[in-house]
Amino acid sequence: MASKQRIRKAVIPAAGLGTRFLPATKAIPKEMLPIIDVPTVQLIVKEASDSGIEEVIFVTGRGKSSIIDHFDMHTDLVRKLRETGKEDLALVVEEINDLARVTSVRQQEPKGLGHAVLCAKHLVGDEPFMVLLGDDLVNASPPCTQQMIDVFEKHQKSVVALQRVGSDEVTDFGICGGQTIADRVYELDSMVEKPSEEDAPSNLAIVGRYVLKPEIFEYLEATEPDDQGEIQLTDAMARMMKVDGFTGYEFSGKRFDAGDKFGFLQANISYGLKRRDIAPRLKAYLRDILNN
Ligand code: G1P
Repeated sequence: MASKQRIRKAVIPAAGLGTRFLPATKAIPKEMLPIIDVPTVQLIVKEASDSGIEEVIFVTGRGKSSIIDHFDMHTDLVRKLRETGKEDLALVVEEINDLARVTSVRQQEPKGLGHAVLCAKHLVGDEPFMVLLGDDLVNASPPCTQQMIDVFEKHQKSVVALQRVGSDEVTDFGICGGQTIADRVYELDSMVEKPSEEDAPSNLAIVGRYVLKPEIFEYLEATEPDDQGEIQLTDAMARMMKVDGFTGYEFSGKRFDAGDKFGFLQANISYGLKRRDIAPRLKAYLRDILNN
């Protein structure tokens, strides 16, 4: 049965225009904006790879080829680095290729997240898979994707990552309701995309990590676009939940909204404070500016 299969594939939707980050994203995909010196998308692929994912499927759009280039072999660069004695950098570049096998498909029309996932149907096939959204960076050990896969293997139902948010923030997320069935684990009974404060079933927000059974594609195909013309992943999941059940998991770790200007700055500072080559100077600098 498909649900007993190991999770080997991850879909990363990366077709969005990145309007929240203009003008930086006028000619550069938002996924390539770096946290210190590592593109956000590489951190996401690393999380997937560290969790046992072998194949990453990017759903891209116009102007996004640099994402695919980034995960391509660059033998000339590696050779040049070695010839000039920069072995450490050669390894840094080579490591990118070892993360996962990368394939891609284009989303031809901007028809929302659900449609983007549907574009990967033929590359995913008949097996459960991960979806990772590039805006959500999660610093966690074990990685958030690994935590989700563990929950899926235990409960054998599709899983969404959840995080509690303030009641004034529910309007920015998919929001879930349900009953606790184990520590941090919920059996979900409702999912609403960006509800009003009054309509929100709880303050448990969907963060961009999903384990989905392949049946989701049938539900996506049957989902009508919303009034913005977008096919919402949450709408398809909500209908699948009624038939197949759905698990919510309040992951442990720190999430950053890297698609938001302030969240991006927070992520840079937080990841910087964990980097041995940056942390001492960054701490001294922060102390200095906060005291003056
Ligand atoms: C998407 C999903 C939403 C989810 C959010 C997490 O929304 O539609 O359900 O809560 O990602 O980041 P977006 O932020 O793309 O509008």
